[in-house]
Amino acid sequence: MEKTYKIAVVNGDGVGAEIVPAGVSVLDAAADKFGFKLEKEEFPFGAGYYKEHGKFMTDNALETLREFDAIFFGAVGLPEIDDTLPARDYTFKVRTSFQQYINYRPVKLFSGVDSPLRYKTEEDIDFVVIRENNEGEFVQSGKILHAEEPSGVAIDTSIFTRFGIERVAHYSFKLARKRNKKVTNVTKSNTLISSLAYWDQVIAEVAQEYPDVTYEKMYIDNASASFVLRPEIFDVILTTNLFGDILSDLGGAIMGSLGLGGSGNINPEKEFPSMFEPIHGSAPDIAGKNIANPIGQIWSAAIMLEHLGEIEAAKDIMAGIEHTTAKGNLTKDLMGTATTTEVADSVVEFIRATN
Ligand code: NAI
Ligand code: MG
Repeated sequence: MEKTYKIAVVNGDGVGAEIVPAGVSVLDAAADKFGFKLEKEEFPFGAGYYKEHGKFMTDNALETLREFDAIFFGAVGLPEIDDTLPARDYTFKVRTSFQQYINYRPVKLFSGVDSPLRYKTEEDIDFVVIRENNEGEFVQSGKILHAEEPSGVAIDTSIFTRFGIERVAHYSFKLARKRNKKVTNVTKSNTLISSLAYWDQVIAEVAQEYPDVTYEKMYIDNASASFVLRPEIFDVILTTNLFGDILSDLGGAIMGSLGLGGSGNINPEKEFPSMFEPIHGSAPDIAGKNIANPIGQIWSAAIMLEHLGEIEAAKDIMAGIEHTTAKGNLTKDLMGTATTTEVADSVVEFIRATN
């Protein structure tokens, strides 16, 4: 019997309404070809929903989403809505409630795409950022006190736990075993001498269990420069929530565009659904014009299928992306003239045409 996966589709805001359907068209083509079924249901959550209902999702949204195998998501946030809300009320809520403690964000140069790093090739730019996705700097445990007074104070607390560090470290070392056997811990323990010193200590302990994997530690300032000057030194980058957020946009940039980056918010134990989304936001500045690059969303579709166990389908989508970029079918952010739909259609055609 055909395997069936239940997929919750959340376009979100801005370009989500264009790139998520583009990604879904590719998913449908892959399902047809590889003989599995996707039972999809759309949910209108996001800042647009907030404008009408005063909340980012329904009260029982988490219980509803819980029943799905995966969530295929665009991004949330609109210029006219308080931007402290989208992460708190949607993205982080889903990531933490569903124990999606891995944020898997691969970086690689596609053929036919010019990296702004003019001396670097496809061999040089090929690594993965593993961003701790449930704790660290983004726990949002803080307060603003007497904001309007001369004595105004603001505090945000970072939280790092042994449990949280160990699980993301084990995942990273296991991933490195399947890749080029190197983990680089990107940290700043020379100045964050409590939280990140402990982060380093626990990771170093875990590293001892993987003697076949090279382990290195690098400070975030040096790592930022190294992304640009010598990306070839990286294989698996293990880093915190905040650093991973920033570094993955830099990763998008060295690939040629933020619109290229795909990602997974992953619960490796599969006790909860995982959520797959491009690394960028809702890009309201280019929304509604059919010019957004859909490749980050399509790559997220491939990462989703890989997570669900449809490895061949995931590989085929990646080959479709590569085929599309190689023949110069590029959107405006990559100096091309193709539309969002043209790029997605090209990937769909590749999947349909090949065996
Ligand atoms: P952004 O990532 O949406 O856009 C940054 C720049 O990259 C813009 O110039 C945009 O046009 C460009 N860009 C992004 N995606 C693109 C694509 N697919 N194709 C071509 N160009 C693309 O970041 P920004 O402007 O800081 O945030 C916009 C909104 O998105 C905010 O409300 C923010 O809070 C939200 N956001 C939501 C995220 C999520 O839901 N996970 C993640 C990041 C931001
Ligand atoms: Mg980000």
